[in-house]
Amino acid sequence: MDALIYLNGEKVDYENAKVSVEDRGFLFGDGIYEVIRVYNGRFFYLNRHIERLKKGAEQIYLDLDFGVENLVETIKKAVKESGFKDASVYVQVTRGAAPRQHAFPSNTKCTWLVIVREVKPQPQEYYENGVMAITVPDERWTRCNIKTVQLLANCIAKEKAKRAGAYEAIFHRGDIITEASSSNVFMVKDGKIFTHPANNLILHGITRYAVLEIIKNNNFELYEETFSKEKLFEADEVFLTGTMTEVMPIVKIDGKIIGDGVPGKITMKIMEDFRRLTETIDC
Ligand code: PDD
Repeated sequence: MDALIYLNGEKVDYENAKVSVEDRGFLFGDGIYEVIRVYNGRFFYLNRHIERLKKGAEQIYLDLDFGVENLVETIKKAVKESGFKDASVYVQVTRGAAPRQHAFPSNTKCTWLVIVREVKPQPQEYYENGVMAITVPDERWTRCNIKTVQLLANCIAKEKAKRAGAYEAIFHRGDIITEASSSNVFMVKDGKIFTHPANNLILHGITRYAVLEIIKNNNFELYEETFSKEKLFEADEVFLTGTMTEVMPIVKIDGKIIGDGVPGKITMKIMEDFRRLTETIDC
């Protein structure tokens, strides 16, 4: 079994997991999602993912009519039934199916989906040697804090990275580095750690928050401040954070070597503490 699926609270086979052609997720991208990681049967901040989903729902005026408790129970049940120790849980909620019109329909029930898949760890050499990134203009809307399923700009950016043989595409809005196509961006200069403030221009990553806590516990100097593309290239260290990315060192951007071209000391300490956290956390 590759994936275990619950659709609208019911367990369904892959072949029978179908939604309406008039689902607003399909027609308008009118929905939100979460990707949650399970390590050795333990959730990595499921509670924070649920809080973010609730906040996103409020921001798009989406009533989670099936009940958040119901969703949490379904997620837990699905992970248990899958038998996967290391898993990803994809959760998507849309405004449901209705004849196509832009304004929100009344009396439509949400479509809600939970997919559990087994996760194979990324190649160890990515973490040991670091990976490459490219920079691309941030062409998304200005409400990037909402984890909406409208990800075309992110998909185009990631495709550009793939075609360039890079791991990730780092967005710049004008001259300012925001985040990356599916991860947040940190940079280190002279022992100081910088990351874009958690405003409307980035997703407030769950991994980002976990890393901020690690940074504080290490008494590293942290600046949640914007920084320019130029500063990114002058950085001593650059790394990404994300649910599937974890903490990933970047050693080359647009063909230019970052720092010494190997994962830096601060990045490695954060990676080590993050790994430890994944071995203990369950909430
Ligand atoms: N993406 N920024 C963007 C644009 C993202 O899509 C993601 C996550 C992150 C990191 O957030 P978190 O630490 O909560 O995973 C930042 C998910 C994993 C995805 O789309 O698959």
